Amino acid sequence: MKEELYKILEEAKKEIANIRDNIELEKMKVKFLGKKGPIKDVLSKLGSISEELRKEVGRVANEVKEELTKMIDEAEAHLKKLQKENELKKGVSDISLPLKKPLTGYPHPVSLVVEKMVNIFKSMGYSVADGPELEEEYYNFDMLNIPPHHPARDDHDSFYVMPGMLLRTHTSPVQIRTMKCFKPPIAIVVPGRCYRRDATDATHSHTFHQMEGLVVDKGISFADLKGTLLLWAKMMFGEETQIRLRPDFFPFTEPSAELAVTCPVCKGKKCNVCKHTGWVELMGCGMVDPIVLENCGIDSEVYSGFAFGLGIERVAMTVYGISDIRQFFENDLRLLEQFGK
Ligand code: PHE
Repeated sequence: MKEELYKILEEAKKEIANIRDNIELEKMKVKFLGKKGPIKDVLSKLGSISEELRKEVGRVANEVKEELTKMIDEAEAHLKKLQKENELKKGVSDISLPLKKPLTGYPHPVSLVVEKMVNIFKSMGYSVADGPELEEEYYNFDMLNIPPHHPARDDHDSFYVMPGMLLRTHTSPVQIRTMKCFKPPIAIVVPGRCYRRDATDATHSHTFHQMEGLVVDKGISFADLKGTLLLWAKMMFGEETQIRLRPDFFPFTEPSAELAVTCPVCKGKKCNVCKHTGWVELMGCGMVDPIVLENCGIDSEVYSGFAFGLGIERVAMTVYGISDIRQFFENDLRLLEQFGK
């Protein structure tokens, strides 16, 4: 009987080597392990042999059964693997594989700086204003106290599209548009794109972004300008930041100043970013020239105001350590991906 059982195992081994698919395997499983299988057959004869032998045959039968089950399981796993490989070769998707990370967009560093600035000024009670990029010379220059042939027009090498119309060279024309439409108190910021006919290099681009600020009310003084910009600098770059104001000139502000902040990278200790000065110049500012207020129909005897204008790319270059302004406009995903939220 034992020999019979071993023979069954040998036979099964031979058969399993020729199995090619699941159906054949299933048939074989039924044939050898099923109710009418050869093992069952042997076991049914156990009653006719001595008890000692019965034990022995029972043990062997179990061994053979286990061995057979193992063989069949292994064959099943092997067939599954082959099937999967075949499907992959045919291009059938394996839905159990992890998903490829979907391509998502990233906020542009310019947008990130604008967002942060806008939020800071909103928290101080400012509104956001807007104006056209294709602007009238009248708003871009004349009303800002920059008459024709004024040398300041040379600083703003402009793109004229026709006489009297140009791509705005700064966001300051929105000061005029706002003051002509709204009565004080006014507190606005204006993020926006500007254009100058500059030769492109690492720090100049014909297209760039500015953020204008304008406050007009009764009793606004230079101290308000200074306090506001100090608060902004601390919120923007950190509590330890200090500001420096130096005299400057703009035709539409009087007095005018240039604002620098202690280098946000080295905290004023001097590094490459601040060209070893400890300071980074970020914006022009000043008290709104009474002529400009009057141009807009605001009584300069009653009202006063301050304004500032800052280069967004300059801030982004400083805080993100970007050394070439052209990188902002090249849409290189390797740069942009670093700003994934
Ligand atoms: N418009 C000025 C420029 O582009 C910046 C500025 C804005 C200066 C507001 C003073 C007040 O250079």
